[in-house]
Amino acid sequence: MKEIENRIQNQVEEKLAALKQHIEIARNNFIGYPVSKDFDYSEIYDFLKYPINNIGDPFNDSTYKVQTHEIEREVVGFFAKLFRADPKDYWGYVTNGGSESNLYGLYLARELHPKGMVYYSESTHYSVRKNIHLLNIPSIVIRSQENGEIDYEDFENTVKMNRHKPAIVLTTFGTTMTEAKDDVSKIKSILKKLAIQDNYIHCDAALAGSFGAFMEPKIPFDFKDGADSISISGHKFIGSPIPTGVIVTKRSNRDRIAKGISYIGSLDTTITGSRNGHSPLFLWYAIKKMGAEGLQKRYLHSLEVAEYCEKKLNEIGVKAWRNQNSITVVIEKPNAEIKEKWQLATEDNISHIICMPNVSKAQIDSFIYDVQNCEKKIEEPFEFTF
Ligand SMILES: Cc1ncc(COP(=O)(O)O)c(C=O)c1O
Repeated sequence: MKEIENRIQNQVEEKLAALKQHIEIARNNFIGYPVSKDFDYSEIYDFLKYPINNIGDPFNDSTYKVQTHEIEREVVGFFAKLFRADPKDYWGYVTNGGSESNLYGLYLARELHPKGMVYYSESTHYSVRKNIHLLNIPSIVIRSQENGEIDYEDFENTVKMNRHKPAIVLTTFGTTMTEAKDDVSKIKSILKKLAIQDNYIHCDAALAGSFGAFMEPKIPFDFKDGADSISISGHKFIGSPIPTGVIVTKRSNRDRIAKGISYIGSLDTTITGSRNGHSPLFLWYAIKKMGAEGLQKRYLHSLEVAEYCEKKLNEIGVKAWRNQNSITVVIEKPNAEIKEKWQLATEDNISHIICMPNVSKAQIDSFIYDVQNCEKKIEEPFEFTF
C-alpha cells in the first residue's frame, strides 16, 4: 500500500515539476500578449486555503460570509474614480475577465433598450460578436479606419438609416491588434446630432482602461466623456495569476435590472452565481501597493519601451508603427521562427509587440537581435500543378 502511495506521489511530483518548467519557459519569452507577469502576491497566498465565494451583489449583504465583498467594492470604487464616474451613481463587480465584462455591458444595454441596435467596428474583440449572439440583439458592423479606430463617417451614415431605433454603441479603447482607441465624445456628438435620445455606450477598455487616465493628450473614453459602462481585464495591465476583469456602470441602471434572491439573501445582479472571491483580493492588493501613481509609472515605463522598440525596428528596416499613446508596436507579420519564439499574435498580415510593464529595453534588444539574425524564409509559392 505504502509503495503504491509513494509511486503516485512521485508521479505527481514529476508531473508538477515538468509543468512548472514548461510554464516558466513559456512565460519568459512572450512579448506578443497583453499580460503583465511582474507581480508578487506571495503575501496573500494564505487566502488560497479558504473556500471564498463572492456570490451575489458585492454592494449587498449575503448569507454566505466567506467572501471578499468589501475588498471587491474598493476595487470597483478605485476604477470608478479612475473612469470619472459619478461618486453617487456608480456600481460594478469583479468579473472573470474582459469578455464577461463586455457581456454585462451589453446585457444592461439590452435590458434598458430592448428594441436597440448594436453598432461596433470591424476591429472589435471577438467576445463582442459572441455576446451579441448570446443576447440575441440585432447589430451592424461599422468599418474601421486603417489604424483600427472606428470610421466615424460610416458610423454616422449607418446610424442615420436606423434613427428610429435606440442605439447601443460598443466602443473599444485599445483594440486587440493595434491598440486603436475609439473616441467616445465623437460618438456621443454624432448621436446628439442625429437626435437619438435613447442610446447607450459601452466602452471595452480591456487593456488601455487601466492607464487611459494618465494619457497625454487624453483620449475621450470615460463616464464624463459619455460612456455608460466600462470594462477592463485585470490580468492585463495590472497582472494577476487568475484571469479577471472589472465592469463599472451606473448604479441607477443596475437598479433597473436587480432581482432579489432569498436563497443567497442578496440581489441577483451579476452574470454568474458563484463568483471568484480571490481575484478581487489580487486586484485590491495590487492597487493598494501601487496606487494611481504606481499605475501611472508603469504606463510611462511601457510607453518609453514601446517608443524604443518602434525606433529600433525602423532602424533595422522593419516597418513599425504605433497608435497615439499606445504601448503596442505594430509590425508586418514576421517569420514563423520569430513568431513562435516570442509568441507574437498575428492577424491577417500584421503582428504586434505589446510593451507591458515587465518588458525591458534589454528584452527588446534581444528580440531585435533575433529579427536581424533570423533567416528570411521564402513563402512557398502556391500554385496548381496541373
Ligand atoms: C479589446 C479587448 N476586449 C476584450 C478582451 C477580452 O478580455 P479577456 O481575455 O479578459 O476576456 C480582449 C482580450 O485580449 C481585448 O483585447
